[in-house]
Parts: sequence; structure tokens; C-alpha cells
Amino acid sequence: MISADKIPNNVGLSGNKRLLRALEHWQPAYLDWWREMGPPGFQDSHQVYLRTAVSVDAAGWAHFDYVRLPEYRWGIFLAEPTHDRRIGFGDFMGQPVWQEVPGEFRNQLRRLIVIQGDTEPASVEQQRSLGAHCPSLYDLRNLFQVNVEEGRHLWAMVYLLHSYFGRDGRDEAEALLERRSGNDDTPRMLEAFNEPIDTWLDFFAFTMFTDRDGKSQLLSLSESSLDPLARTTRFMLTEEAHHMFVGETGMGRILERTCQLLRESGFSGDVRKVGGIDLPLIQKFVNFWFSQSLDLHGSEVSSNAAAYFANGLKGRAEEDKFEDDHVLAANLYMLDMLDDSGRIIRQEVPMRNALNEVLRDWYVGDCQAGVDRWNKRVLEAHGMSERIMLPSRKFHRKVGVYAGKHFDPLGNQLTPEEWERKKYEWLPSPEDKKYLHSIQVTPVYKPGQFANYIAPPQRGINRMPIDFEYVRTEA
Ligand SMILES: [Fe+2]
Ligand SMILES: [Fe+2]
Repeated sequence: MISADKIPNNVGLSGNKRLLRALEHWQPAYLDWWREMGPPGFQDSHQVYLRTAVSVDAAGWAHFDYVRLPEYRWGIFLAEPTHDRRIGFGDFMGQPVWQEVPGEFRNQLRRLIVIQGDTEPASVEQQRSLGAHCPSLYDLRNLFQVNVEEGRHLWAMVYLLHSYFGRDGRDEAEALLERRSGNDDTPRMLEAFNEPIDTWLDFFAFTMFTDRDGKSQLLSLSESSLDPLARTTRFMLTEEAHHMFVGETGMGRILERTCQLLRESGFSGDVRKVGGIDLPLIQKFVNFWFSQSLDLHGSEVSSNAAAYFANGLKGRAEEDKFEDDHVLAANLYMLDMLDDSGRIIRQEVPMRNALNEVLRDWYVGDCQAGVDRWNKRVLEAHGMSERIMLPSRKFHRKVGVYAGKHFDPLGNQLTPEEWERKKYEWLPSPEDKKYLHSIQVTPVYKPGQFANYIAPPQRGINRMPIDFEYVRTEA
């Protein structure tokens, strides 16, 4: 039996009988999904020190306590409404935002919400084996925090489907619990969400780069003329920030430990001999997850992107920071394209059609800022000459104009033979994966202890000490 106060919310759930009935039906299916696809072995006998959002104000959105994972209170929250909010871009610029879905945009909006919704449970499925191989209780807790919040993001999208899309919305909400990451018959919708995340280096690179794609998509949806969608995604962004913190600091701590091990071995040693992760291997994971996440932004030239913008459904990230007219009816964008013979040519395309690329520009800039921080605060601080670099956006692409062609990380074109010969210089090889599995065989469950390949964090969660028991086992 479901009760409105079991689901923290600020959408007046107790007074909304129709929505309550819909969720009564969906919640048990969600919990079944969580038990089947959430972290195995950590469902009933472990308590996790988690942050739960119980309201959207400063005091309530980050409430910390021990919780059993299946008892996490997945809630429904929208950011507070903006008084007299107006449409900020596209053909309806300046008109009042919509509180209901306009019939003519129903299919497009549903598709945007379903695609966003599908990524949320997918990442929980991808990460489910990691708990048995964690480098510390601190990291285990962060993994579970990310997992439960991705679950809440699914709730957020399902709330929109149930509230605004009637029968079709209910069907889509059910289908979101039926697809499975990496399953040949019922895969998740986007490629990066079908890749396994079975090493902690994958996890940190994923939360650094792929959760950051989540951030760019959520930023562009938070501009939407559909006000409930804008408010829902705005609140999701507050949680998403923690996911990228986990990724950036996780990679940073591995880099830190690698530098320490290199220093101890006189800078010339092989850190793998002492259980560390060498810099070239870290770079390969940057190359892999960054290129996968570039693909998530879609084709360089896209009529869908143009329609989403024209109709006011999806804006640019931080739309109000752009100094142009926000309508983009006649603007042009210069794009690198390939001609028939495979040569790169500069081409002008209408700006509206290039909006996937515009969002990708924002994304690359945001990633670069994080990489710069690693280089400065870790590699430079240790006196290392090596640097982590983002590969060219032509590298390893499966979507858009560079799909099916081969480029090295600097953007030089390669023949298929050259690519086959060299790809594992740039991407994780089966041996690399094997090595990473070997160093995470034994999980570290003792408070304050860390696996040898990663440095401790600078501080604990919610001002708790680093050796706090972030996950405790019930006797
Ligand atoms: Fe999410
Ligand atoms: Fe996330």
C-alpha cells in the first residue's frame, strides 16, 4: 500500500488522486526492478549513510541518515516556480510558459522525456557489480548515493509521463522498467548506456564524462517552455553535481596515488608492479568515455534539434548567457564536415540545425575545465611533465559525420588497417581490463582504509571523518 507521505514530494501528491493511483501501480514494479537490478548483496543487511531530498529548500534537500537501500525514500521534486516565467527562445519567445503539454508537441516532448528517463535506470544496471569490488567504504557509499539518485531521476521522468501524457505515458513508464542495459533483445536506448561499468576506473570516468552529458542535457531541458519539465530538471541538476564530484575527485585521487607511487619508485618505475594504475591507462579511459559521451549529443546536423529549439522544447545550455537573439532564425554555424572523398571541409549550416554541436561545444568546455584541474592540482603539483588530454572530437565516434571513419586522438585521419593496429594504444584493451579487475578483486570494507591504487579523499561526506563507517553491516 502506498501513501503520499511515504513519497516525499512538493507536487501536492496527497491531493492528486489520479497521480497517486498511477504511482500506486508503478511503485511496486519499480521496487521489483530495484531489487533485481540494483546493487546485489547490499539490499537488506546493509545501512548506507545517504543523502535524501525531503524538500527543495536549503534545509531539506540534503538530509543525511543511515538507510537500507530499498527503503530509500524516492521522492518527486520540482524546483520552485519562477513568477511570470516566459519562453526564452525559439518561435514562441516571450509568450508565457506552458503548464500543460500542447497537443502538437506531445510526441516530441514524450520522446525527450523517455530518452532522458531511460538513461537513469540504465546506469544503475551498468554499475551493479561494483559494490563487491569497492576501494573503500567512502567510495561504496558514493556509488550507492549516485545509484539511488539515478533511481530518483527515473521517478522524476515517470512523474512527468504519468501527469501529462495519459495512457501513452503510463505505457512508457512501464517500458522504462523493462529494458535492460546491455541486453541484446531489450537494450537501453543509447549506446553508452549499454556498455558495462565493471571497474572503478570505468565508474569514475563514467561519472566524470557521461554524467556530465546528463548535465548538458538537463541544462538544455531546464530551459524548456514546458514548465513542469523545466522545474523537474532544474532540481535534478542539484543532485547531478554530486555525481560529477564523485567522478572528478575519483579520477583525481587515482592520479594522485599514481604520482605518489611514481615518486616512490623514482619516476621511472612501472606502477603496475606495485598495484597502481599507470597514466597511459588512465588516459585510455578518458578517451573511451569522453568519445562515448560526445556521441550522446547526437549528429552534428540535426533537423530534430532544430525542431526542438524552434518549438521551444529544448534550449541551449545556459540560454540566457548567449548574446544573440535566442531565435536563431537566420544565424549560421561553421562546421567541420567530410566531403565525398572523406576530406574535411568547413561548411556553413543554419544554426538551428547545428544545435547538437552547440551543446557539444558547451560540454567539451566543461570537460576541459575538469581536466585542467587534474593537470594543475595533481600532475603539475607533483612536478610531472605528463598531462591528461581530451582526445579530438573526431576520435572514436559512432554517431555523426565522423562515424565509420578513423582518427587518432589528435584528429589525424587513419586507414582502417592503421586503426586496427593502433587502437589499443588509445582505448582500453582486454589486457588493460584484466589488470584492473585483478587489482580490485578484494574489496576494502574497513573504515578509513583504501585500495592501493587510489588516494583517500581530502574530506569525508557531510563533514564526517574519512574513517566514518559510511556503510555498515547489520549483525
Ligand atoms: Fe541522472
Ligand atoms: Fe547522474
